[in-house]
Amino acid sequence: MRGLVLSGGKGTRLRPITFTSAKQLLPIANKPVLFYCLEQLAEAGVTDVGIVVGETKAEIREAVGDGSRFGIKATYIEQDSPAGLAHAVMVSEHFLKDDPFIMVLGDNLLRDGVISIVREFHDKPTNCQILLTKVKNPNQFGVAELRDGKVIRLVEKPKEFISDLALVGVYLFDRNVFKAVKAIKPSLRGELEITDAIQWLLTNGYTVRPHLVTGWWKDTGRLEDILEANRMVLDGIEDKHLGKIDERSRVEFKVFLAEGTIVENSVIRGPVAVGPGTRIVDSFVGPFTSIAGGCTIKGVEVEHSIILEGCKIEGAGARIIDSLMGRNVVIRQGDGQPRAYQFMLGDYSGITLP
Ligand code: DAU
Repeated sequence: MRGLVLSGGKGTRLRPITFTSAKQLLPIANKPVLFYCLEQLAEAGVTDVGIVVGETKAEIREAVGDGSRFGIKATYIEQDSPAGLAHAVMVSEHFLKDDPFIMVLGDNLLRDGVISIVREFHDKPTNCQILLTKVKNPNQFGVAELRDGKVIRLVEKPKEFISDLALVGVYLFDRNVFKAVKAIKPSLRGELEITDAIQWLLTNGYTVRPHLVTGWWKDTGRLEDILEANRMVLDGIEDKHLGKIDERSRVEFKVFLAEGTIVENSVIRGPVAVGPGTRIVDSFVGPFTSIAGGCTIKGVEVEHSIILEGCKIEGAGARIIDSLMGRNVVIRQGDGQPRAYQFMLGDYSGITLP
C-alpha cells in the first residue's frame, strides 16, 4: 500500500504564522505535525509515500528530505494551486498507479496512529474506508450520516445539522477514487472536495466503510486546536533533563529539557518541552508550554503556549498565556518614558492586552 500526505494548501486560519511557514511544519511538543504523520505511516509499514506540496514546497522538502530519517521514501508531487483534497488525489494518480493507498492530511494528528486501520483495510479490502469521530462543531468538518452502521450520506461543512460524526483526515481508497475525483464539480468554496468524491462512490454503488476513532484526533488548522494538540502530546512527554539546572531553580512534574538548555533562578512546572540551547532565566514556565531551541526567556511568566525557534522574550508586564509565537519574535520590557506599548506586527497579527 502507498501513502499520500497532503501538505499543500494555504493555512489562512493561522496567519500571520503561515505567511512565512507551512502549517504542516508548526511544532507540537517541538516536533512538526507532519513528522508525526510520516512516522505513523512508517510504523504501519507504509514506506512509499507521496507528499503533495504547493507554494511552501521548498520548506517542506528541506524539512523532510528523502524521508529516510522517518523510515520512508518520499516522492514530492506538485499541486499548482490548492484546488481541493480531491484535486490533490487527481494530480497524484501517476504516483499512486493501481495500488490501494492511505491518504493522510499533513495537519492532522491521530493519537493511536494508523497501524490498525491499515491492517483492517488489508484484511478486509473495500473501495473506501473513512475514519469518523464525534465533534461538537460539525459545521467545520466534512460529516457522515450513518444508518444501521452504514454510511448513507456525506456533506462537507454542512450549514444545517445532519450528523456530529466528522471525517477525520485519514482515508483509504482503491483505484475507483480516480473515477470519482474526475466526475465531481468544484464546491461553493471553489474546491474539489474529497467528501463529494466519497459521496460519488456511494451514489455509484461502491462500498464506503466507516471506522469510528476512539483515541483523540486533532485537526491543527486553528490556534485553539494547535494549543489543544500541544496539550495532548505534552501530557505524555518524557521527564528528561539533558540541560543544566542551577540550584536556585525548580523543575517539577514532566519536563523535557533538550541538550544545551540552561535554567537559572526559574520554576518550570510541566508538562513542558524545551528545545536545544534555550535559556530560561528568572522566569516561570507553566504547564502545557513548548519552547523551541535557541530561545531566551528572561524575567517572564508563560504558560499554555507555543514558542518557536530563536524567540527572545525578556519581560512582558503580565503572564503570557494561550499564545503562539513564530520564529525570532522579540518581546522586551521598555525602559523609558512614556510608559506605552510599542508594536511592530506583521499583517494579520493578533494581540490581546490585559
Ligand atoms: O481535518 C479534517 C477535515 O479536513 C475534514 O473533516 C474535511 O472533510 C476536509 O475537507 C478537510 O477540511 P479542511 O477545511 O480542514 O481542509 P484544509 O483546507 O485545512 O486542508 C487539509 C490539508 O490538506 C492541509 O494539510 C492542507 C492540504 N491541502 C489542502 C488543499 C485545499 C492540500 O495539500 N491541497 C489542497 O488543495
